[in-house]
Amino acid sequence: MNKIKKTLFGNKPVTLDKNSLIMAIESSCDETACAIVRGGREVLANTVASQIKIHEEYGGVIPEIAAREHLEAINVVIDETFKQAGIKGDEISAFAGTVGPGLVGCLLVGLNAAKTLALVYDKPFIGVNHLNAHLAANFIDTELEPPFIALLVSGGHTQIIKVDSFSDMEIIGETIDDAVGEAYDKVARLIGLPYPGGPKLDKLAQEGNPHAFKLPEAKVGGYDFSFSGLKTAVLRLVKSFDGREMPINDICASFQECVSSTLFKKVKHALEETGYKQVILAGGVAANSEIRRKIFSLKEQGYEVYAPAMKYCTDNAAMVASSAFFFNNTFDDIDVEVFSRA
Ligand code: KG4
Ligand code: ZN
Repeated sequence: MNKIKKTLFGNKPVTLDKNSLIMAIESSCDETACAIVRGGREVLANTVASQIKIHEEYGGVIPEIAAREHLEAINVVIDETFKQAGIKGDEISAFAGTVGPGLVGCLLVGLNAAKTLALVYDKPFIGVNHLNAHLAANFIDTELEPPFIALLVSGGHTQIIKVDSFSDMEIIGETIDDAVGEAYDKVARLIGLPYPGGPKLDKLAQEGNPHAFKLPEAKVGGYDFSFSGLKTAVLRLVKSFDGREMPINDICASFQECVSSTLFKKVKHALEETGYKQVILAGGVAANSEIRRKIFSLKEQGYEVYAPAMKYCTDNAAMVASSAFFFNNTFDDIDVEVFSRA
């Protein structure tokens, strides 16, 4: 599969093919990441410096601290990636960086590093949308190609996307309030779990009874979602114990059941309506055990189901490189500016 991309200077076209090496940088939130990927699918090096330990103390990401940490980590992470891959800068075909959505100060660090590398080595620069990058994580180590339905579930987004081709995609549903990851983190905090609570809540849920408590599924039209009512219902449930010992595992399992079955129903509906036979999971919450289990159960009904390996679910740069290679709706201009919201 060949693709035409612009070069930095004078928009000279270059062709990326399956041997092309893309180095990408990701710094939209609290992970400083760099990767080198061949042909959009084969990861030669993948380095991630996580700031979770630093933000844990505050119960969430503090943007100014995060940006400063990126600045500290960025050169180390880039060096380590070159070393891991055994590749030199002038062997790279194009440099890519996340443009947005994300925290502006954080994005600036990674994007400017990627642009600088492109300038230094006189190679094309490709700006990448973070959400498309999460989808592209599914191209790594697979032969997946559109069309497919994507369920994107992260800390900031919950979307069902109809991906018709590498250049055409449409968001057909999204949350009208909290994102799934946000709901997980808020409920986790309610029951006293440290940040980020999503993965911890998932673990406890696996020990509980998913039918212990009946929690309300929001009735939102089409493929849209709402999770703020569910969060309030959990708050009410927690308060009803009035200081008595709570069946934490059962609360987690009931919450997880409610979220995962809502997501599952809408995804299934989207598959039936579009007639598409492939479905992919993407985003940090794609690591969730029950969401994965339910979506993978669609295999029994003849669908092809994809989810990234765990290390490519949460923020990383391999997915950014893959997105730069495959998707056409990227920003191939050195002048591209960061943006905070989708
Ligand atoms: O995609 P991501 O790394 O960052 C954003 O772009 O938002 O997603 C992070 C989110 C956090 O809210 C985290 O709690 C959630 O993904 N998460 C999970 C699990 N693993 C990560 N939520 C539920 N279950 C999990 N296993
Ligand atoms: Zn993300």
